[in-house]
Amino acid sequence: MDHSSKVLEATAANLAHCAELLRGDEVVGMPTETVYGLAGNALNASSVRKIFAVKGRPLIDPLIVHFSDLDAAEVHIETNDSVRQLAAAFWPGPLTMVVPKQASIPDLVTAGLPSVAIRVPQHPVFRAVLKRLDFPLAAPSANPFGYVSPTRAGHVAHTLGSRIQAVLDGGPCDFGLESTIIDLRNPQVPVILRHGPVTAAQLNKILQVDVSSHNGVADDSTPQSAPGLLTKHYSPTARVTLLPHGETLTANAASESVIALVYNQKPIWHTDQANIFWLSETGELNEIAHNLFELIQRLDQQGFQQIYIEEATEAGLGQAINDRLRRAAAKLEAE
Ligand code: TXA
Ligand code: MG
Repeated sequence: MDHSSKVLEATAANLAHCAELLRGDEVVGMPTETVYGLAGNALNASSVRKIFAVKGRPLIDPLIVHFSDLDAAEVHIETNDSVRQLAAAFWPGPLTMVVPKQASIPDLVTAGLPSVAIRVPQHPVFRAVLKRLDFPLAAPSANPFGYVSPTRAGHVAHTLGSRIQAVLDGGPCDFGLESTIIDLRNPQVPVILRHGPVTAAQLNKILQVDVSSHNGVADDSTPQSAPGLLTKHYSPTARVTLLPHGETLTANAASESVIALVYNQKPIWHTDQANIFWLSETGELNEIAHNLFELIQRLDQQGFQQIYIEEATEAGLGQAINDRLRRAAAKLEAE
């Protein structure tokens, strides 16, 4: 069924309507600068339960809570200097911080953890809704659990449209990749839990320490010693196989309708073969990130069964891009 009628333009009337839905403990699809979120009242257990139910997400995987500013967030956390420094540098924006929580954040939001993931988003539509509310919004990416994150309102309507009343349209997401997550529970030892648009180098510069990365991926069944790192995440329906950066495959024209080849940049030898795609004309990392999930979802909808994707160079934003690509490819191993 077509659920495109659930997509609402971000007019004042529709913002008010969505704020009203949220006050009534409903969940709403909303744009952020990273990916679209599935938002609900973070302080209300029934609304949080709806988020998990709509996504089909296991309760062991905690949610990010979105605030309008640092002051609003500090009411619900135990803050520290690193939080303030990073907030000053990157908020509003695509950085999520994990910090000890106060009792006001329901345990359901954090999967029982004593810490909460917090973020102040930048997208004007999300901010306009927050401004109308006197509570923060819990919002995971608005995709069915395990699938690729949505970067357009239409993606949300297509996958979750039958289960929600509205998706606010904020246009295509600027970054196209989920926020960077940094663990600041121990501010002396900050750890990147998920690579994203704010790079390790940018974090190092503000904190003046070498921020380490969480290495390895959590066991999918343990209650979240390192949550958010479930292996089989971000998987399209098609099988994804990675090509080392710079490597090309010779496509067999006979398999054009089932096998897609995706390169970082437009191949110089480009033929007009219908199964060759590229994420950026010039191989620019921001553009690759911006287009990645959109292209994967388009190829899935076109019915390709196998997608070969070239890895990005492993520097800067390339780390986040490759992290998502490896998770998409991990589906093969999980089966
Ligand atoms: O860009 C984003 O972060 C988007 C937009 C909507 O804000 N949200 C997003 O949420 O990607 P989600 O739920 O798809 O991914 C958040 C990750 C989860 O995998 C979760 O396990 C992790 O953050 N996380 C949440 N709370 C945590 C906590 N207390 N400790 C460690 N990790 C946590
Ligand atoms: Mg997600």
